[in-house]
Amino acid sequence: MSTAAKQLDTGELEQRVKSMYEEVALEPDREFHFETGRPLAERLGYPAGDLDRIPAAAIDSFAGVGYFQDLAAIDRGEAVLDLGSGSGTDTFFAALRTGPEGLVVGVDMTDAQLAKARTLAEEGGFTQVELRAGYIESPPVDDGQFDCVISNGVVNLSPDKPAVFAAAARALRPGGRLALSDIVSAHQLPEGVTCDASLWAACIGGAMQQDGYRAAIEAAGFEIDTWKENTAYRFVSDRADNATQKYGVTSVSVLARRP
Ligand SMILES: C[S@@+](CC[C@H](N)C(=O)[O-])C[C@H]1O[C@@H](n2cnc3c(N)ncnc32)[C@H](O)[C@@H]1O
Repeated sequence: MSTAAKQLDTGELEQRVKSMYEEVALEPDREFHFETGRPLAERLGYPAGDLDRIPAAAIDSFAGVGYFQDLAAIDRGEAVLDLGSGSGTDTFFAALRTGPEGLVVGVDMTDAQLAKARTLAEEGGFTQVELRAGYIESPPVDDGQFDCVISNGVVNLSPDKPAVFAAAARALRPGGRLALSDIVSAHQLPEGVTCDASLWAACIGGAMQQDGYRAAIEAAGFEIDTWKENTAYRFVSDRADNATQKYGVTSVSVLARRP
């Protein structure tokens, strides 16, 4: 079920992902294979009024691929886990919904992203936000602690997606929900793409074929409630655009429930 081709060097992939997202944290104005920042967030559907209440520097480094917060429908006082929280746009968005009596834990493996989100949480008085260093395949959280697990543009970067969905299911209480946006493909990508660590780091090479992606969510014990395509998302470099057109690489938002 893993999308990792035999030749993908997962150690190299981790280093490339870390160095790319360190740049996204520290130099968000640079050009990447993908869009970043507030114009992207607004185009994907994030309400401007909510973005106004999130630290602007977090949104500068926003590198999500869709809007799923409507599906997540986070309530006041809830506990939320953000897998691959980056500089924190969705973490802070969730914190607006939980209020100070809730809890939002963001987990990320890139130090510069964590440091940025931590500083912004402290400066912004988001006392309900905790940023933890860790991997989305084995997040440092207790079992059954969360009402909702969220993630934006991250699962595609993992060479072991079934482990990520299993970890999300473990973290949720019974009846809890998983709401995410991610990149999937209509057709299985060829090895030339799946073995290219830089295309993985750009959120293309790791795109799992969509039927397999749904099956991986269900195999973790979830029931899929909603699956919708985000037509507003697009890649920006020619190389990325070619791969997306040829193999039907696309962004989706998903809501799934743990029975
Ligand atoms: C495309 S960015 C998205 C960040 C954030 N969700 C957003 O929307 O701006 C991917 C993030 O996932 C993190 N990441 C990728 N793979 C990871 C893994 N296996 N474990 C933990 N974090 C990971 C990267 O460090 C990066 O911050």
